[in-house]
Amino acid sequence: MGASRPEPAQRPRGPEQEGGPGQEGVPGRQNGWVMGPDAGRGAGAGILISLEGVEGSGKSTQCRLLLAWLRDQGVAVTTVREPGGTDLGERLRAIVLDPALGPLRPETEVLLFAAARSQAFVERIEPALSRGDVVVCDRFVDSSAAYQGAGLGVDAEFIRRVNDAVTQGLRPQLTILLDVPAGVGRERRRQAAAELDRIERRDIAYHEAVRTGYLALARREPGRFMVVDGTGDPETVHDAIQGAVARALASRATGGRG
Ligand SMILES: Nc1ncnc2c1ncn2[C@@H]1O[C@H](COP(=O)(O)OP(=O)(O)OP(=O)(O)O)[C@@H](O)[C@H]1O
Ligand SMILES: [Mg+2]
Repeated sequence: MGASRPEPAQRPRGPEQEGGPGQEGVPGRQNGWVMGPDAGRGAGAGILISLEGVEGSGKSTQCRLLLAWLRDQGVAVTTVREPGGTDLGERLRAIVLDPALGPLRPETEVLLFAAARSQAFVERIEPALSRGDVVVCDRFVDSSAAYQGAGLGVDAEFIRRVNDAVTQGLRPQLTILLDVPAGVGRERRRQAAAELDRIERRDIAYHEAVRTGYLALARREPGRFMVVDGTGDPETVHDAIQGAVARALASRATGGRG
């Protein structure tokens, strides 16, 4: 668990990125992304790290601790929370998490999160990666696979295609899955007296299905995922994350060879 070096970013290929129709609309081009097998590797290339897990698993807490640690190391960091991180994204967040919102077709939910992600990707993530920043995302594409795929039964291929379009096929180099039983996360939220949003209000069986979905994703891509026991205290969890991120940074420094 977790000791394997993160694989290099999986960059897109295909006609849309290679000058096919609609190229003007490809945000990566406008922002100077270099597509191709070596993109994302070597000096100046950013690194994308995502934090995933059920509600109350400690993503935002660990995001803060990671940000502080990376800044202490003199690393340029950009953090993005999902959904959100942009004007549109924060407005969409308010809509999709509003408990007063009526029932949604699960596929619609996928598309709303993808719309927010699309905007975060072009406005925040991609420019930061181009600058060479370490980008830490508090949730990313795996949330869709877990919450709408495993949780609501949306076709996994549909989710993958929508999100690949949004992120131009980019996947994080490192995804930290904070694993806690759904009930533990719920209890933490209760203790914090947090008001539960529309998705958090779903029953514990739903959230356990989300957790199981996350663990299945991690098993499928062991090179990208690091599963961390999120039930430890925040500092212990942070130490585990720090080790994995340090390895990812070392791998970047050697262009993925070391
Ligand atoms: N390791 C931990 N042990 C105990 N409590 C924790 C731990 N990590 C975070 N908490 C507390 O649990 C609550 C939820 O943590 P946090 O907001 O970081 O989770 P989250 O995964 O971001 O949740 P959400 O999905 O709702 O955004 C907070 O009150 C936080 O202080
Ligand atoms: Mg959070």
